[in-house]
Amino acid sequence: MSENPVGFGLLGAGLVAPFHAKSLRSSSKATLVAVADMNRERAEKLAKEYECKCLTTLDELLDCPGVEAICVLTPNHAHHDVVIAAARAGKHVLVEKPPAMTLRETDSMIAACKEADVRFGIVLQCRVRKAIQAMKKAIESGRFGRLLHADAYMKWFRSTEYYLSDGWRSSRASGAGVTVQHAFHYIDLLQYLAGPGKRIWARMNNLSHPQVDLEDTVLSIIEFESGAQGVVEASTGLWPGTDIRIEINGENGTAIMLGERMQTWKFRDEQPEDEEIRRYGSESIQTAASGPADFAFFDHKVVIEDMADAIREHQDPCIPAISTRPSLEMVLAMYQSARVGDWVPIPLESEQGIL
Ligand SMILES: NC(=O)c1ccc[n+]([C@@H]2O[C@H](COP(=O)([O-])OP(=O)(O)OC[C@H]3O[C@@H](n4cnc5c(N)ncnc54)[C@H](O)[C@@H]3O)[C@@H](O)[C@H]2O)c1
Repeated sequence: MSENPVGFGLLGAGLVAPFHAKSLRSSSKATLVAVADMNRERAEKLAKEYECKCLTTLDELLDCPGVEAICVLTPNHAHHDVVIAAARAGKHVLVEKPPAMTLRETDSMIAACKEADVRFGIVLQCRVRKAIQAMKKAIESGRFGRLLHADAYMKWFRSTEYYLSDGWRSSRASGAGVTVQHAFHYIDLLQYLAGPGKRIWARMNNLSHPQVDLEDTVLSIIEFESGAQGVVEASTGLWPGTDIRIEINGENGTAIMLGERMQTWKFRDEQPEDEEIRRYGSESIQTAASGPADFAFFDHKVVIEDMADAIREHQDPCIPAISTRPSLEMVLAMYQSARVGDWVPIPLESEQGIL
C-alpha cells in the first residue's frame, strides 16, 4: 500500500460496482472507504463483502471522512447532477460511461470540475487495452500512413430479463438504448483512434427485444474529419453474442482487435516489436459479449489507479471527460440521423438528445 492511498467512495452498488470494488481492494494506490446506494440492501451487501462503510445517500458520501474521490455508478441520466454536487463539495469524480445524456450537461460538468479544481475522468476502460494502445501509438507515429477505415462490430446478446431487471435499463430517457449504453465504448474507440466524425448516417431498430421500446441494433456509416471512413454495427440482439471487433486500415497497415486480443497486426514495414504485439491479449478473457457482467476487472483497475495518480500529482487522468465529448457528439448524431433518415453533420447544429 502506498503511504497515502486515495480514498474512494462508490455511488451506486449495482451491476458495475463490484468491478470498482475489486479494483480498489487489490490496489496499493487507492482504497475503498464507503459505498452509498438508495437501495440499502444493495449497499449493505457490497459494504459487507468489501469491508467498507455503508451509506444510502450522496450527501452522506460527500460528508464521509476519508472520501476524496467519488466513482459515479448510477444510471446514465443521473450522472450530471451527481457530478455537479460532488465537484461543489470538492470531490474528484470518476464517472462510468457515457459521461452524460447531452453535450450541454457534459459541458456543465466539465466547467464545474474546472471551477472546483477537481479531476474528472470517465471510465471507458477499453481504451487502456494493450491492443488499443498499440494501435494508438502506431497511428500517432504515422505507421498506418493515411487512415482509410475505422470500424466497430459489436454483435452481442442481452436477454429480455436483462432489459426488464431494472426500470432504467429499458428507459430511453435514462440512456438505455444500445447505441448510447453498450456501443458507446466502441464508438469512443473509433473516435479515440481515428479522430472525431465529420458526418454520420445511422439506422436503428429493435430485432430481438419486442418487450422494450428501445433500439437494440444500430447500423452507422461515419466520415471522419481525418478523411477516413468507417462503420458501426452494434446489437444486443444477436444470440449467443460474439467478441467485439475493432478494425483499423491505413494505406500501410491493418490492425484488428477481437475481444481484447490483437488478432491482426500487419504493416508494410515489419518492426522487431510486432511479433510481441501480435500476442497481446488472451482468448480466454471475456469482454461482455454474452452477459452484462461477463468481463474482467483489470481494465477498470488501470483506470482507477491512473485516477489516483492524477489526484496525487494534480494532473489530468488518462481519460479526461473532455476527451469523450466528441464520442458523445457522434452518438447523438447517430440518434438524430436515425430519426431524420439522413446524414447529420458534426458539429451538431442543434442538440436534440437521444429521445
Ligand atoms: N464500464 C463498463 O463496462 C460498464 C458496465 C456496466 C455499466 N456501466 C455503467 O455504469 C453505470 C451504472 O450501471 P449499472 O449497470 O451498475 O446500473 P445498476 O442499475 O445495476 O446500478 C445503479 C445503482 O445506482 C443506484 N442509484 C441510482 N441513483 C442513485 C442516487 N442518486 N443515490 C444513490 N444511489 C443511486 C441504484 O439504486 C442502483 O443500485 C451506468 O452509467 C452504466 O452505463 C459501465
